Amino acid sequence: LAPPLLDAQGRRMTYLRLSITDRCNFRCSYCSPASWGGKRDLLGAEELERITSVFARMGIRRVRLTGGEPLIRPDILDIARRIAAVPGIQHLAITSNASHLERLAAPLREAGVTQLNLSLDTLSAETFRRISKQGDIGAVMRGLDAAARAGYASLKLNVVVLRGVNDEEAPALVAYAHARGFTPRFIELMPFGQGTPVPTAELVERLQASGLPLTPEPDDTGDASGPARYWRAPEGRVGFISPLTQNFCGSCNRVRVASNGDLRSCLGGRAQAPLHQLIRGGASDVELAVAIRRALGDKPEGHRFTEPGNGATLLSMMGIGG
Ligand code: GTP
Ligand code: 5AD
Ligand code: SF4
Repeated sequence: LAPPLLDAQGRRMTYLRLSITDRCNFRCSYCSPASWGGKRDLLGAEELERITSVFARMGIRRVRLTGGEPLIRPDILDIARRIAAVPGIQHLAITSNASHLERLAAPLREAGVTQLNLSLDTLSAETFRRISKQGDIGAVMRGLDAAARAGYASLKLNVVVLRGVNDEEAPALVAYAHARGFTPRFIELMPFGQGTPVPTAELVERLQASGLPLTPEPDDTGDASGPARYWRAPEGRVGFISPLTQNFCGSCNRVRVASNGDLRSCLGGRAQAPLHQLIRGGASDVELAVAIRRALGDKPEGHRFTEPGNGATLLSMMGIGG
């Protein structure tokens, strides 16, 4: 199925994000869809393994499982084991809200997961309830502690920054993360739900003004094609993801499969190849590869989140997985 997967701009795709459910046990204000729409058509563990193997033969080396909340799938350990064992896949990562990790951090590590990106927007139970509605901050903190003990190669703490809600807590979240061996990352809010974003430049200034010395890290850390840019602080790194103010689409290396099995070449783009339908229709691996290649030929140069009115037209984060 070679040659490698290139898009129309010549960007090479090496990173696959698989959303394995559109459901979540939390309801974050910035993420939840206005309504549950569309047909649920989740890919099974074997189908996820098959899709991963087709992508791996085209040069995908890294897979991230996302959601919704991926750890609510009862077959999550089976999915992780199968994907970690696909020839060519060197890293298997998960993005999660951490609420199920007290139980799952160690088994997932044994199943072959190497990296976790976990969400924590606040240290205050009251603010947590305001942001995450049905969320349980106690379960999240126990999950984060279990992850810190389980021997992962990389642990990141994702913070979506909301003006007037959690922006004052940024220095405390850096200290909390570094004390546990996590790299904190502050994310500019994308227009999928409610809330007001804080531009990264302002947040960096506010962190520095709070007494945290930050120096930019050169882009030679091997993370350069990811959305985060990293700074160095005395106790560790601090990342910033700035989809609104520092567009990183030019170096994008990622392709997504939404929870209903639709391939999406861009987070802000439309659905393309319906991989689940093709599989159920009996498509061969070569036919899947042809459909994937054709869809990638159409990958947009970048998202258009900052264009007025565009956010509302996008599908919610939950089915695409960020
Ligand atoms: P690493 O691979 O560890 O760098 O993770 P990541 O930052 O790519 O993934 P994660 O799932 O932790 O997502 C963190 C934030 O980045 C979320 O808000 C995602 O929606 C956002 N994000 C991830 N990939 C993209 C992308 O290609 N475009 C945009 N605009 N945002 C993205
Ligand atoms: N803007 C930016 N990041 C978001 N996430 C969810 N919704 C948004 C949004 N509107 C983040 C979560 C998690 C990842 C899956 O995406 O906080 O870190
Ligand atoms: Fe669930 Fe994550 Fe969305 Fe919050 S941001 S509702 S934890 S999927």
